[in-house]
Amino acid sequence: MEKCSWPPLSPIDPRPAVCPLCQAPGQLHVAMLARSALRSARQAGLAARNAARKTTPSRPASTSSSSASSSASSSAGSSASPWTTNALPAGATVVAVGTVAWYYHLFGRNVDAMTPAEEGLHPTKYPWEHEKWSKTFDHSSLRRGFQVYREVCASCHSLSRIPYRSLVGTMLTVDEAKALAEENEYDTEPNDQGDIEQRPGKLSDYLPSPYKNDEAARAANNGALPPDLSLMVKARHGGCNYIFSLLTGYPEEPPAGAVVPEGLNFNPYFPGTGIAMARVLYDDLVEYEDGTKASTSQMAKDVVEFLNWAAEPEMDERKKMGWKVLAVTSVLFALSVWVKRYKWAPLKTRKLVYNPPVQSDVLSRLQPKPKNKS
Ligand code: HEC
Repeated sequence: MEKCSWPPLSPIDPRPAVCPLCQAPGQLHVAMLARSALRSARQAGLAARNAARKTTPSRPASTSSSSASSSASSSAGSSASPWTTNALPAGATVVAVGTVAWYYHLFGRNVDAMTPAEEGLHPTKYPWEHEKWSKTFDHSSLRRGFQVYREVCASCHSLSRIPYRSLVGTMLTVDEAKALAEENEYDTEPNDQGDIEQRPGKLSDYLPSPYKNDEAARAANNGALPPDLSLMVKARHGGCNYIFSLLTGYPEEPPAGAVVPEGLNFNPYFPGTGIAMARVLYDDLVEYEDGTKASTSQMAKDVVEFLNWAAEPEMDERKKMGWKVLAVTSVLFALSVWVKRYKWAPLKTRKLVYNPPVQSDVLSRLQPKPKNKS
């Protein structure tokens, strides 16, 4: 008999293959062994799961040898389990929801010192031009507003965070700002004898305060402290709208029934409605150099815009920078989308084809052909 040479053994695959002609043992036996090993592993897993569920406590796991009995016991276990399996997550959910609810009950709600009525009238929302995304301050309005501050508010309110130099180019020329600074005297550094002298103001000096200290301010204002206005627009809910409403909101007479304590003035926008500051703006109080009519609301608008500048002197620059950032990042974003599509194009347009091996070949290998037997 000729020596069988099927199949050609690959040098890198040491497994012996079974020959469909001479039935030499090998790969087939390996496959059967693997299948039986898998089956027993599956049964062991089922038995272990049943034991864990405690549905078959009296039966040792080894007795559930047939797959029929083990599947029967597993279905019995699943029908018995819902209450116990659901109790733990349901309980945990109840505890979690209860904890959040109790925490919200204790700490989550706003606590208001005053009723909404006492809180003051909510200011009207005005269409401030400078608050729009693409708008700057109206700088002639800033100049007028600074005039109103200087001629009206500065006698009571300080603006201590604003140096003269920041007025240059925003609402004053250099010469105007220098002349304004020189109107006031500031302390010098101590000289050789340790004496502090007075010198005229410079551009680097800050706007002077009307009072020496808070006590003097209170003493001059019936016990009320006129707050510093540098950050007032940011410090009050409603910002520009609130201050505009406050300045223009003094009625001729307090409404009937309103209780106005001695020394206070009625203003519906001020929390508590009794404010120590009386109405300060009246038509034609100041004379604008650009010919704008100085109505009460015009002055209020100008001074509020000026105070907004004082609180956010960087606003114009910030908005310009924001538009630059948007422009640059949108170009970069478009570029990165293009690069991503470019890099992924070969993968996205690739077609993967799976050619399954021909099954009939395997069958003919396992079944010896009759004609070869002869
Ligand atoms: C006669 C002094 C005086 C003048 C002038 C004056 N104020 Fe006042 N202002 C006060 C006092 C006093 C308070 C404190 C009020 C209080 O706490 O009841 C005050 C408070 C304020 C407040 C804070 C309100 C709040 O919500 O706490 C703002 C804003 C304000 N003033 C703006 C101005 C502006 C703008 C001007 C100029 C147009 C001006 N004031 C002129 C005395 C003055």
